[in-house]
Amino acid sequence: MQVGIESISLYTSHYYLDLQKIAEKRGEDYNKYYTGIGQERMSVPPPDEDVVTLAANAVIQAMENIDARQIDTLMFATESGVDQSKAAGIWVHKLTNLPKNMRVFELKQACYSGAGGLALALPYLLQHPDRKILIVAADIARYGLESVGEPTQGAGAIAMVLSTSPKIMTFELSSGIFTQDVMDFWRPNYRDEALVDGKYSIKMYLRTLMEAWEQYTALSGRRFEDFNKFVYHLPFAKMGEKAHSFLVKHAAETLEESEWLKQIEDAAVYQRVIGNTYAASVFTALQSLLDVSTEDLSGKRIGLFSYGSGSVGEFFSGAVLPGYRTHLHSSRHQQQIISRIPLDYNTYAEFYSYKSNMPTDGSAISTPIHKTGSFRFAGLQEHRRIYEVVR
Ligand code: HMG
Repeated sequence: MQVGIESISLYTSHYYLDLQKIAEKRGEDYNKYYTGIGQERMSVPPPDEDVVTLAANAVIQAMENIDARQIDTLMFATESGVDQSKAAGIWVHKLTNLPKNMRVFELKQACYSGAGGLALALPYLLQHPDRKILIVAADIARYGLESVGEPTQGAGAIAMVLSTSPKIMTFELSSGIFTQDVMDFWRPNYRDEALVDGKYSIKMYLRTLMEAWEQYTALSGRRFEDFNKFVYHLPFAKMGEKAHSFLVKHAAETLEESEWLKQIEDAAVYQRVIGNTYAASVFTALQSLLDVSTEDLSGKRIGLFSYGSGSVGEFFSGAVLPGYRTHLHSSRHQQQIISRIPLDYNTYAEFYSYKSNMPTDGSAISTPIHKTGSFRFAGLQEHRRIYEVVR
């Protein structure tokens, strides 16, 4: 029996900052970002957008041709959740009219949690082949204005319906996993912005990739040559090149650079203009590959690597199904990205600072109205978050 993705959709915010604006502000050469880290733009959420609204917008697209009564679980993977107790997925469940007889919960382990949810969903579905699972990964990457991580911020959500009638991709069950306690990136409960040891985090990413790959190949018996494309967690687009050149050296020394670049470049197209989407990042990269690749990927094996700082990494794999293109929302994704509104630095800084200045004493606040798709975060009343459907 096959198990995998029946439907998948990406959603990002309607505003972006060109990284040239950050370079101008810092008096730097913008090629440090465009070429050095491979990033041109980053999505910026307005004050009335959060992971709930991003996720709900992704869910309505992914659920378009799905009978909601078959969904029995919604897993919400995020590290920028909106409540320490209540799962963000419960607001998404209400906003998108999902059935009442289902379970909803939140998953956390930095950027890894979506892949962790997937690993648990696959065997569950094989045991319950009449059911479907909705995995939503949504994040807003915040490092702080003028911080070293600022150019690697971003925002977005991926919603995936997983089932035993996949139409886009099947997953194989063997994977390689590696966990170690490291402080490369973290966010204490009292902070709204991540702390990071940037260069160290890149080293930890690469070490984890090697360990996960070693276990994957030992358990599955597959080799580098068995893969057509590779999809990496992309905190910035250049990280995919760093990771893949590292893996090539380790596993397939003879491959020319022009050849290995072809294995990863389509997966980085969305990342380059959206920025880091944390838990959604590896799936945003998969979405990018499926949407923009002119090559027919039917029957091709894809290797995926998810890394979540702290840290956990997993290398896993799947194969693209014939006819997958007819089940994608590619033009809608591309249209949303192209039609985003550019921000000047001051408006971006205003949007950014709004969240840090929200009241914490229970007083009411109404968020100003911006473009947020079909849902918006309308404000706070007595510590309660208020969401609205936009007509
Ligand atoms: P930085 O200090 O701003 O940049 O840090 P840099 O000085 O290292 O320069 C970056 C690159 O640009 C270098 O290339 C420079 O040579 C080049 P590299 O040596 O890396 O090949 N460069 C230029 N190129 C062309 N023209 C120029 C120019 N100037 C310099 N004029 C860093 C960069 C990514 C570390 C920083 O932005 C950061 O800390 N970001 C956040 C952390 C991060 O993204 N880590 C990635 C691995 S950890 C991970 O993926 C997990 C994560 O997603 C969180 C989670 O799991 O939840 C982050």
